Amino acid sequence: MSERHWYTLDDVERLSIEEKIRLTKEYVNPGMVKLFGLLGFDKAWASSAEGAYIILSDGRRILDMSGGNGVLGLGHNHPQILAARAKVANEKRLEICKAFLSPYMAILAANMANLLPGDLEYSFFCNSGAEAIEGALKLAEKHHGLERAGIVYTDHSFHGKTHAAMSISSLDDSRENFQLLERCYQVPYGDADALEDLFRKRSVGGGSRPDLCAFVLEAIHGTRIIFPPQGYLRRVRELCTQYDVLLILDEIYIGFGRTGYWFAFELEGIIPDIVCYAKTFGGGKATIAGYTTRAPVFLKAYGKPEDSMIHSSTYSGMSEECATAIEALNIIKDEGLVDRARDLGEYLGQRLVALKNKYPNCINDVRGRGLLWGVELRPALEQLEPLINRILPGKSPILATLAGAIVLSELFHNYNVLAYLGFTRRNLIVFSPPLIISKSELEQAIEALDAVLSSGWLSLGRSFIARQFS
Ligand SMILES: Cc1ncc(COP(=O)(O)O)c(C=O)c1O
Repeated sequence: MSERHWYTLDDVERLSIEEKIRLTKEYVNPGMVKLFGLLGFDKAWASSAEGAYIILSDGRRILDMSGGNGVLGLGHNHPQILAARAKVANEKRLEICKAFLSPYMAILAANMANLLPGDLEYSFFCNSGAEAIEGALKLAEKHHGLERAGIVYTDHSFHGKTHAAMSISSLDDSRENFQLLERCYQVPYGDADALEDLFRKRSVGGGSRPDLCAFVLEAIHGTRIIFPPQGYLRRVRELCTQYDVLLILDEIYIGFGRTGYWFAFELEGIIPDIVCYAKTFGGGKATIAGYTTRAPVFLKAYGKPEDSMIHSSTYSGMSEECATAIEALNIIKDEGLVDRARDLGEYLGQRLVALKNKYPNCINDVRGRGLLWGVELRPALEQLEPLINRILPGKSPILATLAGAIVLSELFHNYNVLAYLGFTRRNLIVFSPPLIISKSELEQAIEALDAVLSSGWLSLGRSFIARQFS
């Protein structure tokens, strides 16, 4: 061990903001620190968080309209989630033993089968959305065999950052830096004819069995908040059935009430072959994700004892994580959070559309459903970008989303509201608050955005630049 300081848990309480920044710069990721610094988020120190609020060390209460980018469907530190985790810990329940079957995992899987329609019955639990996608892709490949290992995905897709998930994520800007998986085919989102064309082209001998095992799709594309045309999901379901290609729906962001449905695929009443989920599933505390698949699909791929452990993970099914997800589902059900998201979403949507009408020169588009809404700003500062680039050289990443960054920063610093930027969409301010948020809290966020936009770009730009030097 070197002479460096050895930190303890108590040091977390004692660390100064400057020390936190230094350690992150030296030992985690200096580029990330710089990027956060442009928004002035690097100096924020959250001392606690509860419900829809983050409480900063300087006493400010920040309304969290970002909802941890979808993770915080139940808000921060939901008391029932804390109690469920404490129960498992305080009773010293067995967290993990790979030789035993877990009652927590069994109950969670049974509840997922209860919650999901049709014969979506077998579940695999893991730790991240990308890992759920990986599991689903491997299941599809094992189900159909190597002759049919091709995967279809769309041009509006983000499924994670592991190698396979990145290979089918058209919106991952970093794709060019990596060797992507072969045999992945892109089709336009919302275009069922293009999908049928591809299925037909890839069917050897003109039959209806293409060399493809799966089509991966989001029923509503969460990153850019894009909706497919009506009837698309049903057609996709029919085509996948006709060509015997497994339909994998990614509900990692939008599942568990976010869009006002338990799952967005309910929009058109279809049943996927595999559904992947994460985020809200973990109740804001557990790093748990998973997939659930139709019984015939799972049993064909992994039904035999010798195949049963082909896909597994060390942390799969740990008790506290599963207990948290069991409780998260109870809370969503008992508190009626799905209907709540739908009702509050209608209100939020109406208010945001009213803002678009009030500021047609600032807002290009407003779109969303349930408690997932995006406000796409006009690139109003485009003319100023060369100038700002001269004043702030090397800050180009933020310039790509300058109007969004300015509004985001202003909302946070002057109005105590936290949103986030749709990371692959220029200037898309995303509101994805906890589903437990109140109407008056939503109103607070809308009024804040109204006040920011009323300030005018010149004044906003000035205070943004001033913050760079403070
Ligand atoms: C739709 C969707 N799929 C997959 C993922 C990847 O999940 P994770 O970051 O947990 O790997 C995300 C993450 O934001 C997502 O939004």
